[in-house]
Amino acid sequence: MSRAIHIAGGRALRGTVTVSGAKNAVLKHMAAAILAEGVSTFHRVPRIADVEVMSEVLRRLGADVRFEGDTAFIDTTSMDSFEAPYDLVATMRASILVLGPLVARFGTARVAMPGGCNIGSRKIDLHLKGLQQLGASISSEHGYIEASAPTGLSGAHIFLDFPSVGATENLLMAAVKARGTTTIENAAREPEIQDLIALLGAMGARIEGAGTSTLVVEGVPELRPAEHTVIGDRIEAGTMLVAGALAAESLTVEGADPAHLELVLSKLADAGVPVSVDGARMTVAGPGRFAPVDVATLPYPGFPTDMQPQFMTLLSLADGDSVITENVFESRFMFADELRRMGADITIDGHRAIVRGVKRLSGAPVKAPDLRGGAALVLAGLVAEGETLVGDTYHIERGYEDLVGKLAAVGAAIEWVEAEGGDVGAHA
Ligand code: EPZ
Repeated sequence: MSRAIHIAGGRALRGTVTVSGAKNAVLKHMAAAILAEGVSTFHRVPRIADVEVMSEVLRRLGADVRFEGDTAFIDTTSMDSFEAPYDLVATMRASILVLGPLVARFGTARVAMPGGCNIGSRKIDLHLKGLQQLGASISSEHGYIEASAPTGLSGAHIFLDFPSVGATENLLMAAVKARGTTTIENAAREPEIQDLIALLGAMGARIEGAGTSTLVVEGVPELRPAEHTVIGDRIEAGTMLVAGALAAESLTVEGADPAHLELVLSKLADAGVPVSVDGARMTVAGPGRFAPVDVATLPYPGFPTDMQPQFMTLLSLADGDSVITENVFESRFMFADELRRMGADITIDGHRAIVRGVKRLSGAPVKAPDLRGGAALVLAGLVAEGETLVGDTYHIERGYEDLVGKLAAVGAAIEWVEAEGGDVGAHA
């Protein structure tokens, strides 16, 4: 039975929401566990579909993965396979992040090439080029990447064409056991990478430069299992802040580090939505109307592309025109087609979306095109006149732990219902 999310707009939100551990950190931590023989323990693991898929990938590799609440225990002692199969990689692209750790630990890996998804082609050329520079031989056939380094990896000076998050992570996890020194220039600086570096350090890796564009890794012969608490999900926190901006009398969001959301908080203030910060608690109230704001997504610390659809929902109700420029992915505007069904006035011109503010949105049946677009449709439903039904919610369940429950707990009229006619479409 597939499920849809039903929302009756117009309810005021009040209270406190606590976000879960970061999806875009924990998936990499789970892959990093491969690097050490034994049991690694992770706390604050969000129970989301992507974590289930990554657990299945590790099990197919021979690891044992079990959960106690939001704690995951990953035992890599009996790993006996080095292949991440297509059915799982096609479900979740982040499976490609087992490539670096597998080559580093076992000298071999066979990972299905991840397909594109609804936001872009999602290439992995920078991952593969960096692994070759570290001495792995790479071949691809029948839709699989084969990587081998029978005599181990050797440090290299890698210059990324683009500060790719995934490439930085895959290459870090390969370099930690490479002989000698590896330098990664133009590395991505996202907080989730800083958290991965903290984990790798706890496992015995030697990495300098966390948070900067230049990472220097001194290879070590062995890594040991570690215990680690995942950082809070800054994108879930940003999503909840936009919910508050749209519909709250007063909403406090806790569990993420405000320092990871500086530009989002600044853009909310520019839109007429001040967020008060008290330690790790961020409180927002809905002003009801918003000032138009121009937004351009960029790698961290720029405005996060994963907050772009949520801001499009907010700015669709601004008093004037906003320009949103998507610089990270080549087609992350599919969501606009669905928001138009709710009355938004948006014109797409290549990488730019011109968002002309309208007085109100109206509830409608819509379909989540991807993870963040789906969440942004839920946000629109909170303030739209009438009822909204969001279908294809499997996209949302990939990356938000209990979004419906968290919003209902602060006053939203939101519930799961059975999808009419069934949702179609394979997992992107
Ligand atoms: C991570 O994706 C996140 N996913 C994405 O979050 C996020 O949007 C993205 O980083 C940017 O912040 C996870 O962490 C699981 P990239 P990733 O490599 O690693 C191009 C969400 O909603 N590129 O920085 O795939 C690529 O095509 C998801 O939670 C190459 O050209 O992002 C894209 O246009 C969506 N060659 C751009 O770089 C490569 O080898 C950014 O990709 C690699 C990337």
